Amino acid sequence: MISISARVANSSGPAVSRYLYSHFAEHLGRCIYPGIWVGDSQVIENEGGIRLDVVSALKKLRLPALRWPGGCFADNYHWRDGIGPRQSRPKRYNLWWLQPEKNEFGTHEFIRFCDMIGAEPYICTNVGSGTVEEARSWIEYCNSHQSTALADERAQNGSPHPFNVKFWGVGNESWGCGGSMYPEYYANLFRQFATYMKATDRSISLVACGSHPGIPEWDAIFLERMKGTEHLVDYLALHIYSAQGISDLHYSDEDYYQVLGQIQIMDSNLSRAAELCRAHSTSDHRIKVILDEWGTWFKEAQTSNGLYQQSTMLDAIFAALSFHCFHRHASDLFMTNMAQTINVLQALILTEGPNMCCTPTYHVYDLLSGHRDGKVLPVEAQIPVTTTKDGHAVPAASLSATEKDGELTLSMVNTSLDETINLSVALDCGAADQELTIRMLTADNVRAHNTPKEPDTVKPTDVQAAITSGKLSLILPPFTVASVQVPLRK
Ligand code: AHR
Repeated sequence: MISISARVANSSGPAVSRYLYSHFAEHLGRCIYPGIWVGDSQVIENEGGIRLDVVSALKKLRLPALRWPGGCFADNYHWRDGIGPRQSRPKRYNLWWLQPEKNEFGTHEFIRFCDMIGAEPYICTNVGSGTVEEARSWIEYCNSHQSTALADERAQNGSPHPFNVKFWGVGNESWGCGGSMYPEYYANLFRQFATYMKATDRSISLVACGSHPGIPEWDAIFLERMKGTEHLVDYLALHIYSAQGISDLHYSDEDYYQVLGQIQIMDSNLSRAAELCRAHSTSDHRIKVILDEWGTWFKEAQTSNGLYQQSTMLDAIFAALSFHCFHRHASDLFMTNMAQTINVLQALILTEGPNMCCTPTYHVYDLLSGHRDGKVLPVEAQIPVTTTKDGHAVPAASLSATEKDGELTLSMVNTSLDETINLSVALDCGAADQELTIRMLTADNVRAHNTPKEPDTVKPTDVQAAITSGKLSLILPPFTVASVQVPLRK
């Protein structure tokens, strides 16, 4: 048993952008077909082709934004293929994920799906194999309030009201699948695309392709080239995957800590990008950071199986610790999109025919949802640390606290595989003594997971606790994520 005393201070910091809890769905493997779209299925309950079990699960999470159509697929996608009568949409081949693309799920279906789950749409345009006019006209098609040929076509296709899509990506991984470009070349293209995209709709926000940890120099070179046109860049987007080379279910205890240790790589890359973005911001235009793609990518996830992998308590602990890291970057980090929503990588939902399950990661999004838009409250604690073989530090516990509308949200993680934590948290932020219900996600076995046939092996439970003399006392079993909401004294 480890005893940890912590203190939540009575002073608030920056707000946690709600968009940190956003997500990403690509035409890849079984994410869109049949994770979202089941067409005319008579077996899977759907509304106009969109499966309703998935909608009802995602609606509960209130994902703030959803990025689409890729990923690598974005720079292989031509949006006109996905509008108009379904039977006349062309069949294409998905170059990156080696599968047919029937184009049944296009812009209108994506917007309808976002409306159904309550997420804001975020569209990534094609820079690698598309044109400036293609990107620009997609914006006009989606957002124009005028009666232009494109807006009229949108109306004829069933949507007289503009979609008002605010977030637009300018290419994806332009250093790789998005065109194997040099940062200088991408910067020139970005300036050209962004000029016409922003002129089409001045209210949109543009996301520029940033680095992955193997090419940190990309960001500085790109931003340097944007001098004088900084106003075109609203966000610089990083991609950081973890757990590569490790097994989704058959990881060793050492592997477990190694995956958690990789959060330090995200942390240092976010700090580096944040510093650069601040340095390249002007007094009237602030550039912020987006973590456009992140999450575990285990060795089982291959192109041949549509990047499918299982999700265990390791994924849950990894997600919760990552969110705590993101809260610490609240001043500079605007959005993060875990990859990907359904059946791909660190998915929220797995489907099998008409059955589905929510993964442990799904439950972490739910447990931590109270942090959105809350102001960060500093937490002080002495926490023992394990050092991994590759030199990263994994804290035995992690706490994050935020305050919103007179309510404290406190989330707590025990990362240890074998030690229970006896936690005592002094709530100096002003909570009255009271009985509380804590929501806890844990399991008998760290490798426990849900399947569409056995969907409830890992799910949150309610645990009773109390605040006495201003202190919350709690026992956190090994590999546990817990959260609680507490009204604060005015
Ligand atoms: O999320 C899977 C892939 O990972 C995306 O298509 C790409 O952007 C990244 O390399």
